[in-house]
Amino acid sequence: MPGIVIIGTQWGDEGKGKATDALGDRVDYCVRYSGGNNAGHTVVVNGQKFGLRLLPSGILNDNCTCVIGNGVVVDLSVFYDELDELTERGVVVAHPLISANAHLITPYHSTLDKVTERFAGKKKIGTTGRGIGPAYSDKVNRIGIRVQDLLDAETLAAKVEAALEQKNQVFAKIYNRRPIEARIIIDELLAYAERVRPYVVDAARLLNDALDEGKTVLFEGAQAHHLDVDHGTYPYVTSSNPIAAGACTGAGVGPCRIDRVIGIAKAYTTRVGEGPFPTELFDADGDTLRANGGEYGVVTGRARRTGWFDALVVEQANKVNGATDVFLTKLDVLTGWEQIPVCVAYDIDGARTDHWPMTMGELERAQPVYEYLPGWSEDITRARSFAELPVTCQAYVKRLEELIGVRISGIGVGPGREESIVINELV
Ligand code: GDP
Ligand code: IMO
Ligand code: MG
Repeated sequence: MPGIVIIGTQWGDEGKGKATDALGDRVDYCVRYSGGNNAGHTVVVNGQKFGLRLLPSGILNDNCTCVIGNGVVVDLSVFYDELDELTERGVVVAHPLISANAHLITPYHSTLDKVTERFAGKKKIGTTGRGIGPAYSDKVNRIGIRVQDLLDAETLAAKVEAALEQKNQVFAKIYNRRPIEARIIIDELLAYAERVRPYVVDAARLLNDALDEGKTVLFEGAQAHHLDVDHGTYPYVTSSNPIAAGACTGAGVGPCRIDRVIGIAKAYTTRVGEGPFPTELFDADGDTLRANGGEYGVVTGRARRTGWFDALVVEQANKVNGATDVFLTKLDVLTGWEQIPVCVAYDIDGARTDHWPMTMGELERAQPVYEYLPGWSEDITRARSFAELPVTCQAYVKRLEELIGVRISGIGVGPGREESIVINELV
């Protein structure tokens, strides 16, 4: 029975949260495998909006066990704020299980993230400032603090002290900041230890056993292909592997356990933070997309950069992730344009290319080549089948499908859980 991965095919905020939630009633486990609270996944249920940062989007579905995989970096204060907030809103949810191997984000990671960005000035990445990069750096540097360290106060203290010995040199000598006291960090982390202890598990074992028993496991990607540290627009990327293969390392399952990879693609394009974006709009159309699509970040509230659909972006993601299906979101936001430009190729130094360029230099010089498709004016938010869409809208979807090389199996026509068109069942 299936292991399913959901990934973003653009630069994030494609609607992964909504898609995960929509499948949630048919899955047994919902697993976050990469990133941390840099993610902001919106789920709208019965008109109530939830902005999830660390909690898997399956959390709002009864009978779905949520798991934080080893590949996630966990800020426990955010994690518990989110859980407590749901309780305060009267939503009854089960505490997610957390991999003993997941790394922790501590206050020195978020501080380092912010000072590094400030120091970089014009060369900044435009991070979310949540300590993601520094926490992953420590992991790779082998000085990270893991969830299992919370189970043993002595080990925890020794590791925090060792990490800070190095970090405090950096704070003082490079950033001219006061050192951070290890005791404060240790006490802050220990304050969560007893609450988290019953939920710390060998998540890799648990998930493999679940798959052996024929359960359905949904791996919920955060960020997106083009923010991947290996495959994205480096250095304007996040510090983890959000791609589908990241579900194997970030949750501990073998590649053959993945039966389906669902690429989430917005019907246009957005990006937050710095970095190349060939179809970016700086005119009134860009503002209209932002306003109609509500394109403001869930985590930082930043206005998202907006542009037309770029088929090269999504086609590359589909290829590298082995996408079996695409879920096209926010098609309703394109209602009202007489014609809709779609980027079908790039002009790079006078030569036309119809696929993603090899180098960042080429990407930075790429000029979009547009094909203009007829638009539609009818409200499509109530459509629940492909046949109910206006003919030109159907043609838009079909043309995108041709360009991105993977079948479009679902379409989002509004933010609500039920505001979708299913073309091929995904679970
Ligand atoms: P994620 O990070 O990929 O989960 O996406 P975000 O939640 O950051 O951003 C997607 C935004 O679009 C959220 O506000 C969603 O509620 C909204 N959304 C998702 N799907 C649709 C859709 O099909 N139509 C409309 N209008 N909004 C959608
Ligand atoms: P979801 O899961 C959009 C971007 C940041 C920045 C870069 C690095 O909601 O799609 P980081 O804090 O990760 O070191 O920032 O990555 N970024 C996202 N952009 N959606 C996200 O998550 C993002 N997570 C990180 O804006 O450009
Ligand atoms: Mg988001």
